[in-house]
Amino acid sequence: MSATPVLALRGISKRFGAVQALTDVDLEVHAGEVVALVGDNGAGKSTLVKTIAGVSPADEGVFEWQGRSVEVNRPHDAQELGIATVYQDLALCDNLDVVGNLFLGREIMRAGVLDEIEMERRARELLDTLSIRIPSVRIPIASLSGGQRQTVAIARSMLGEPKLVILDEPTAALGVEQTAQVLDLVERLRERGLAVILISHNMADVKAVADKVAVLRLGRNNGVFDVGSTSQEEIISAITGATDNAVTRRKARTAGSQS
Ligand SMILES: Nc1ncnc2c1ncn2[C@@H]1O[C@H](COP(=O)(O)OP(=O)(O)OP(=O)(O)O)[C@@H](O)[C@H]1O
Ligand SMILES: [Mg+2]
Repeated sequence: MSATPVLALRGISKRFGAVQALTDVDLEVHAGEVVALVGDNGAGKSTLVKTIAGVSPADEGVFEWQGRSVEVNRPHDAQELGIATVYQDLALCDNLDVVGNLFLGREIMRAGVLDEIEMERRARELLDTLSIRIPSVRIPIASLSGGQRQTVAIARSMLGEPKLVILDEPTAALGVEQTAQVLDLVERLRERGLAVILISHNMADVKAVADKVAVLRLGRNNGVFDVGSTSQEEIISAITGATDNAVTRRKARTAGSQS
């Protein structure tokens, strides 16, 4: 892909005391592209996401946003750029309805009171645009299925009109049908031209929706693969370390910098 990536990380390193969580990590994501971020437990996926989200800035490395080098030191910096993160624990309020959850913290007011009608209208519009089907926007979150909750959480992240959405294990707790719902939504996001980073342990999900897979192993890059032309086995061996693709990456990086 020749266009400037929405996000480009170069040489990201991060240490927690004695633990070197990330070493010289690169990552690129383009608009309209879903990049799966995979790797074993402890590979550094969450740490990398926290770097991008400004929760835990890197010690070293370059953070480029739409071709420009930027500083992302706080979550607010990331939000301002247009980065939305949907964490695994969702942070939805069980006792509020769907509208209440969508607009939590960004309530629409009219003459000093909550404009429930407008929020309800926009909630419906948002869910329609994303083809999210739930029984009613006025039912409590607690009565939705896990998959429906996940789609509401993702829809909520859309309200800030982000350019990049990071989804941390969005299907981890879901059954087959619910997973399909969430993966469908990921496709909608791509169709809308968003860049998506999807953390997943599930190779079937990765194969189903991702364009590229970036593998982390022991805090380092271990290959970036084109999903269409790479087998599940190849990806798994990069994850487990049966193949060492770090050299390939160096070559790709050199080739990339010449073009
Ligand atoms: N706040 C922290 N303090 C100390 N060490 C940390 C901290 N956060 C992460 N680490 C360490 O950094 C390494 C990478 O952890 P990280 O959570 O990024 O892995 P992960 O790829 O997300 O794993 P999982 O698939 O289990 O979620 C691990 O060795 C972990 O113990
Ligand atoms: Mg993690």
